[in-house]
Amino acid sequence: EEPETPSGGEGSSSSSQGGQSSGGNTDEVVYSGGIVEPASITPEVISNPSAITAIVNKYHALPEGYTPSDLVAITTNCGKNLQLRREAAESWEQMMEAAKADGITLKAVSAYRTKDYQNGLFTRYTSQYGKEYTAQYSAYPRRSEHELGLALDISNTAGIPDNFETTAEGKWLIKNAHNYGFILRYPEDKVKITQYGYEPWHYRYLGKDLAETLYKSGQTYEEYLG
Ligand code: DAL
Ligand code: ZN
Repeated sequence: EEPETPSGGEGSSSSSQGGQSSGGNTDEVVYSGGIVEPASITPEVISNPSAITAIVNKYHALPEGYTPSDLVAITTNCGKNLQLRREAAESWEQMMEAAKADGITLKAVSAYRTKDYQNGLFTRYTSQYGKEYTAQYSAYPRRSEHELGLALDISNTAGIPDNFETTAEGKWLIKNAHNYGFILRYPEDKVKITQYGYEPWHYRYLGKDLAETLYKSGQTYEEYLG
């Protein structure tokens, strides 16, 4: 059922740990820092992939073949042609305009990705940087929020700079994104909970009410769902 990608298993620097996690897998491979190798997880397949609030993470996968039905082109400010689901796209345009009024130019550098595209990214990361790094910064195919059409990587250049959170654009987002329904999905102090390294560029659209609730509580989406 999963696509062909480098498998987990006997990683040299990894240790095996009992399966208390939600997948019911007793053979999870855990790297230093508590990040689990995604290929060693058996995820739950979610039943509501088209819900704006659908949870997708290392333990919750999209059904095979899911494609959002309402993808639309977005303004990127960097020459790329990208798409998001309509509601997220409309909110992104509003956020971009609000930032512009504050003298800030937000650029969208990655948005909707197909499963095949995510698979290619994950495979390339694995061969270039190894499994442990890839487990921190790249989602296994069918487990990326980018496949929902509700995640957006935002930058101040066409790529992603180091320490984006220290740029004017990164700071503006930290302060304002929730007002447009976007949350910083992988905070620095929640790595073990989100199962991803800090990604100051990756924002998830959850709608204004839920984004504001999470922002005010300081919880990740995983913590909120319990
Ligand atoms: N970089 C995030 C985790 C993704 O690949 O969806
Ligand atoms: Zn991202």
